[in-house]
Amino acid sequence: DAAIDFNGEHQAGIVTPAQDRLHFVALDVVTKDRAELVALLKTWTRAAERMTAGAEAAPGGLVGGGPFAAPEDTGEAYGLPASGLTVTIGFGPSLFDGRFGLADRRPAALADLPAFPGDQLEAARSGGDLCIQACANDPQVAVHAVRNLVRLGFGTVSARWSQLGFGRTSSTSTSQATPRNMFGFKDGTANVKAEDTEALAQHVWVASDDDASAGWMTGGSYLVARRIRMHIEVWDRTSLQEQEDVIGRDKKEGAPLGGAKEFDALDFARKAPDGQPAIPMNAHVRLAHESNLKGVRLLRRGYNFTDGTDGVGHLDAGLFFVAFMRDPRRQFVPMQQALAEKDGLNEYIEHNGSAVFACPPGTQPGQFWGQQLF
Ligand code: HEM
Repeated sequence: DAAIDFNGEHQAGIVTPAQDRLHFVALDVVTKDRAELVALLKTWTRAAERMTAGAEAAPGGLVGGGPFAAPEDTGEAYGLPASGLTVTIGFGPSLFDGRFGLADRRPAALADLPAFPGDQLEAARSGGDLCIQACANDPQVAVHAVRNLVRLGFGTVSARWSQLGFGRTSSTSTSQATPRNMFGFKDGTANVKAEDTEALAQHVWVASDDDASAGWMTGGSYLVARRIRMHIEVWDRTSLQEQEDVIGRDKKEGAPLGGAKEFDALDFARKAPDGQPAIPMNAHVRLAHESNLKGVRLLRRGYNFTDGTDGVGHLDAGLFFVAFMRDPRRQFVPMQQALAEKDGLNEYIEHNGSAVFACPPGTQPGQFWGQQLF
């Protein structure tokens, strides 16, 4: 329940050991006034800093402002601990469309994602000028953070889509046990981990010479979000062997097929007793592995979701895939392209939401989110 540091070289919520709960919101900026946008970013930064420390969104708190004004904090997290809250902001490609004089500062890496085979994207679950990712170990604390930031932005931004997540699907630290996703498999075993600073520098953090016109992103990271519906009813009638072949790992231990232990190295040359590759050619872990992608990796930080039913008798369940990386064009795009073409999982999943955001570097005390950009 301890508080996480808000300020730092990088924003919290990226390599912070993944908390249990997520509330993610994408917003559109409704003002045309750049000064209003900057003022909101300043207000948001202070509010997020306060809430991360376990305090209310504004100094007046849940009864502040006097009896005749709306209270300065909505109140539902009053008395609750910080619960490991992190609040992370990102800027979408559309923020750089010229409305705010930012067109020449758009990083080349912040390109709209291309269409992938099999995409079933819904506009109402995709895109956005801004995003806020709130993660905490108490759902009430995560929702309170997003709600108060949206409230402070009334008239300047409007919520476009939002996603709740329970049950992290990735460990982002070697101190965490690997959690399981809605298919019952351990997820995050081969993730880039917070302790591996070399891999973070190589795959997650933007370096100062990555993009001459977007030096403001140095120390930041790009976030790709995909809402992936998982057809759990079909999966749940699929044999254990087929399930394990589709992933390329065994279900209980999470070991690579043909191996024994979760963290055993993947051996793609190993043969099963029948002479076929132990890890099938279209297994998810083979296609997503760096050896199939010229060394490309990324940091996954997704969450499970169930959002009621689909209206035709099934649960609307899945994985809200969130990943952080240094350049989506070189990392997510080729990886998802490889998966979309061949992954055995495709029979059981459907991507129906998509967005990409540039998450600026962290703040020093007194600075505001994205200060280097404006
Ligand atoms: C690995 C499940 C979507 C990238 C894994 C593993 C599971 C899994 C069970 C093995 C454990 C691990 O190493 O984490 C799923 C499910 C998905 C999904 C159920 C959709 C609902 C994606 C997407 C991407 C992705 C969209 C990226 C485009 C990866 C990577 C690995 C991985 C990079 C590690 C591969 C390795 O190096 O061994 N996934 N995944 N996954 N997945 Fe996914």
